[in-house]
Amino acid sequence: MISISTVRISEEAERLAVEVIRSGMLAQGPMVARLEREFAEFVGVTHAVAVNNGTTALIAAVQALDLRPGDEVITSPFTFVATLNAILQAGAVARFADIREDDFCVDPDAVHAMLGPRTKVLMPVHLYGQAADMDRIAPIAREHGLGLIEDTAQAHGATINGRAAGSFGIGTFSFYGTKNITTGEGGIVTTSDDGIADRLRVLRNQGMRERYQYEMAGNNYRLTDLQAALAIPQLAHYDETVKRRKENAARLSAGLRDVPGVRVPAELPGRSHVWHQYTVLITDESTRGRDEVVRVLTERGIGCGVYYPKVVYDYDCYRNDPNVVADPAPVAQRVATHCLSLPVHQHLSDDEVDQVIDGVRAAVS
Ligand SMILES: Cc1ncc(COP(=O)(O)O)c(C=O)c1O
Repeated sequence: MISISTVRISEEAERLAVEVIRSGMLAQGPMVARLEREFAEFVGVTHAVAVNNGTTALIAAVQALDLRPGDEVITSPFTFVATLNAILQAGAVARFADIREDDFCVDPDAVHAMLGPRTKVLMPVHLYGQAADMDRIAPIAREHGLGLIEDTAQAHGATINGRAAGSFGIGTFSFYGTKNITTGEGGIVTTSDDGIADRLRVLRNQGMRERYQYEMAGNNYRLTDLQAALAIPQLAHYDETVKRRKENAARLSAGLRDVPGVRVPAELPGRSHVWHQYTVLITDESTRGRDEVVRVLTERGIGCGVYYPKVVYDYDCYRNDPNVVADPAPVAQRVATHCLSLPVHQHLSDDEVDQVIDGVRAAVS
């Protein structure tokens, strides 16, 4: 079986984890502080605040902006459900601007068209490892005095014109088990705003600044030193991870570009894609529909995934929620029925990548 994601923890990470275990200090401590310093430098921001997963990273970011009921957050309809749930947890209203088919991220023109008096925050999602068009989205936020939260759960180290995703506004990252950098569960929030960083640190720790002095209703969003110990060496060697993912993506594209029925993903000009996912579109020229292609690949032992099968609000549990506005998103809807993610991770051999190519060629023809 060629899996869509594989986790291998290095001996260096093992050694650091053992160091933490022997120190007796397992909760948030010096290792978390070290990860925060190194991650802030990696993203090119002043602060990184580690939290216990990517969902709480989003929730804390929205909470830090202190939204009021009825305030609107414009996000992508084509994302993992955590993006939507974080907006709802903050009591805000979720609006959805359609995506572009070339980067699968929110379309700046659609965002602009959706602005209204209740808009308070823009929340683009850097999907699959490629940054959204921040050169156009960040100015919209600035010109209209809006908060900007970048869901960077899938795009550690992605850049746009040399600037890292997660450095334009408040960046939220996930270290979940399948992510490019993983601690099993974990997350981190990045910002260059001292006030936001301070608020995030207090929110993360039950709203407490000094011992038993509470400033706000917070929560326990803390990461453990044990988890930070796993992330630190991955961050140090992340260039190698991305290099290998890029090589695999290039090999996949070379093998699939001319195959009728398959549209390969593009790394757009000025953007550096970190290939969290390699996602093709199965087009009408394919002899099999997307779901049939999934079945054939699975039978051949090739792991693949559909991220995501529907637009995020198209579920009964959100249907009657007044805080979820089912804005039309025809591009996202079309992509959701045609997208297919193939293995691209750094532990694949060339031979395995070739098997994926052969499998897809056979499945669509
Ligand atoms: C786009 C996106 N946002 C948010 C999250 C939530 O992260 P986590 O699973 O660490 O809570 C994920 C990952 O699962 C994600 O892919």
